[in-house]
Amino acid sequence: MSDSPIITDSFKRQSLGFFPTPFHYLANFSEVLGGPKIFIKRDDLSGLAFGGNKTRKLEYLLAEALNNGCDCIITAGAVQSNHCRQTAAAAALLKLPCHLLLGGEKPQTVNGNLLLDYLLGSKIYWQGEHRKGEGIPDLVSLLTQQGHKPYVVPYGGSNEVGALGFVNALQELQHQLVNTPISHIVFASSSGATHAGLLVGKALLQQSYQLIGINIDKDEDAKKPFKQVIVDLANQTASFLGKDCRFELDSIDLLEGFTGQGYGVLGSAEQEAISLLAKSEGILLDPVYTGRAMAGLIDLVRSEQLPASANVLFWHTGGNPALFAYADKFTEW
Ligand SMILES: Cc1ncc(COP(=O)(O)O)c(C=O)c1O
Repeated sequence: MSDSPIITDSFKRQSLGFFPTPFHYLANFSEVLGGPKIFIKRDDLSGLAFGGNKTRKLEYLLAEALNNGCDCIITAGAVQSNHCRQTAAAAALLKLPCHLLLGGEKPQTVNGNLLLDYLLGSKIYWQGEHRKGEGIPDLVSLLTQQGHKPYVVPYGGSNEVGALGFVNALQELQHQLVNTPISHIVFASSSGATHAGLLVGKALLQQSYQLIGINIDKDEDAKKPFKQVIVDLANQTASFLGKDCRFELDSIDLLEGFTGQGYGVLGSAEQEAISLLAKSEGILLDPVYTGRAMAGLIDLVRSEQLPASANVLFWHTGGNPALFAYADKFTEW
């Protein structure tokens, strides 16, 4: 394997965070689980307004916005969207006004990510039952009529530009794995570019670890099965990079059995995962994504699908501010 960058300088990247994020062993947590060795990659420490996986995507997306001469940013998400909070922070840093289309109505208590969205200066538009950017075309028209040139960051930052952040992330990890052969990487998967970028990065770096995405969002209205979304995005990303690797549905590990009562609903499995990691390592997970993904990892260890001989990396993708919006939902103290 060559050590030369798999993403060349012709793909513009705007620095927004602090990389490499830490990689370390979870000795206490591994002991508590009593199975494989568990390691962690700390994208919760990426630095942009409490960090998270979206920093990596936004470095490429907002570089494109600047390159295209755009003068404002639009994106969308749920009321406690980490993606929207990170986009608002990145836009503030780049002195670009940020417009956020959020699902639901303005809640009585403004907390968690929503509090940060306001503090970061974004303009918020409440969208009722639509949390996936259905209202974006109308806002683009309005802002364009007013003489602006908006840049639309896609839902979750997931397109072939955003996915570059996670192609690059595996090369970053490569330098941290010198004496640690990892057999599995487990992470939360939702809009797809984290998973797609990791697939492309793994193929280009010729690695043999198994990528296990935990689907955290059971979207029954989706037009396309989520696994197909990931495959298509991985293929688009490879083409965008000018690489000829191709991906098929059966080469993708996406576990669908951990979506509980639906998107953002905190169940006992997530509560246990958050509590176990907090009490054994002093590391916080979030209620929507990483808590659910870690619940998946714990289940795979207990059912011995992750054998004791494995070296498992959990990719912490951030999201911690949402914890504060769920204070009254935790039942175990
Ligand atoms: C904390 C966190 N983890 C994981 C994900 C999933 O990443 P992706 O949307 O690239 O699948 C998200 C997406 O919003 C997130 O906020």
